Amino acid sequence: MRKNIVAGNWKMNNTLQETKQLLNELMRQTKNTEAEVMVAPTFVNLESATQVLTGSGIEVIAQNMHFASHGAYTGEVSAAMLKEIAVNTVILGHSERRAYFNETDELLAKKVDAALANNLRVIFCFGEELSDRKANNEEPVVASQIANALFHLEASAWKSIVLAYEPVWAIGTGETATPNQAQDMHQFIRKTIENKYNSDVANSVSILYGGSVKPANAKEIFSKPDVDGGLIGGASLKAEDFFAIVNAF
Ligand code: PGA
Repeated sequence: MRKNIVAGNWKMNNTLQETKQLLNELMRQTKNTEAEVMVAPTFVNLESATQVLTGSGIEVIAQNMHFASHGAYTGEVSAAMLKEIAVNTVILGHSERRAYFNETDELLAKKVDAALANNLRVIFCFGEELSDRKANNEEPVVASQIANALFHLEASAWKSIVLAYEPVWAIGTGETATPNQAQDMHQFIRKTIENKYNSDVANSVSILYGGSVKPANAKEIFSKPDVDGGLIGGASLKAEDFFAIVNAF
């Protein structure tokens, strides 16, 4: 069966001191949770975070990586560099990477391949813009984001893929997709994967929802049958809120 996952994407927040403090608060609160719990601090704090969280059951994950194994890519980080510091999961394709750093589906396909070649699990993000939804175009947009970056993979590779549907209009805006909008899209995504692969692949991939998830709405969103958890931005920066969300399962 697929896993329930709650991942906190800290983005460019928290200095090293703040990181350690928040992790210590999380460790006090996260006992006996049913979901897999992950946090994504900024690159420079990843190694310290893995040390602080040793034995806690909370996984440290990266927010991004480059597709190349090494070389003249100033400011970038490779998959092997992440693996060496015990980071085994990477977020790819976040809408902020797409919007501010021009990441395209084609580039993301290369990043996905590099991550999988290095035995990293991928949390692959995608989602439509507000203009797409207003034009009733959200399903084709989402289907093509998934197909362009992931449909070259063999079925067996999907055991290392987690999907995160994040409608761009809901990220950091306080505006959340309704639980039914999330469910409809997640069901569509699962069907799209079933059509390309088979029902085994479709039913075993975890599909997270992201976009203004907070303690007040997490329970209802997570109760939907095709929603397997959340990718949490703003609310993951407060231990209390993050754990209220984790405990919403
Ligand atoms: P948000 O961010 O929860 O602050 O909307 C979600 C995300 O960017 O993954």
